Amino acid sequence: MFITFEGLDSSGKTTQARLLVDHLRVRAHAPVRFIREPGGTVISERLREILLDKKYLELSEASELFLFSASRAQLVRQVIHPALLRGEIVVCDRYYDSTTAYQGYGRGLDLATIRGINTLAAAGVVPDLTVLVDITIEEIEKRKHASKTEFDRMESAGREFFARVHNGYLSMAAEEPKRFVVVDGMRSVDDIAQEIADVVDNRQHLLKKEGQEES
Ligand code: TYD
Repeated sequence: MFITFEGLDSSGKTTQARLLVDHLRVRAHAPVRFIREPGGTVISERLREILLDKKYLELSEASELFLFSASRAQLVRQVIHPALLRGEIVVCDRYYDSTTAYQGYGRGLDLATIRGINTLAAAGVVPDLTVLVDITIEEIEKRKHASKTEFDRMESAGREFFARVHNGYLSMAAEEPKRFVVVDGMRSVDDIAQEIADVVDNRQHLLKKEGQEES
């Protein structure tokens, strides 16, 4: 089973992804692997450094798209696909929906082109479930100002950029309602985690049942 987490920076999705991994490690009957994007292989981590380092302000939008996609292409082939073939559960903090949201809706690159690049990078590995942790732009701004850590290159973009990314995510979730589950990220960490755990437990149950019917 392949589960991805999506959402704006500071949405709390990484915390939720970690909590789901803890939950699954106790409950699931298969090894659980936790990965973050961009990163997860030696090559992908090198690309991450270029992508997030503020000193590369000259990085073009097209280069940004290719570097995120290159990082993913390596991660899918080296880690995600082999793990899924072994029957492991893979939880990934961001995947190709981030590219559609940030480089497509956010930067304004052509969505059809991005779809093609995503398909190539992902080698046909589509998430069974994508959890979109949704919070308002106002809340994002509040959390960013309260945080003491310095912004990386992506986080330094303006409010309009994040508003476009936010709307993009909601459109994508509406287009693929079977794959996406949108959770209200404005509630307590525990409430959100419980909702996500329930959704995943249900899906796992369904996947098992479908598997049994096939055999
Ligand atoms: P990261 O520090 O991992 O942020 P977060 O905890 O919010 O995931 O940085 C990843 C940044 O890269 C984040 O701002 C989103 C952006 N990103 C893209 O623009 N496109 C992509 O395809 C991916 C995977 C991430």
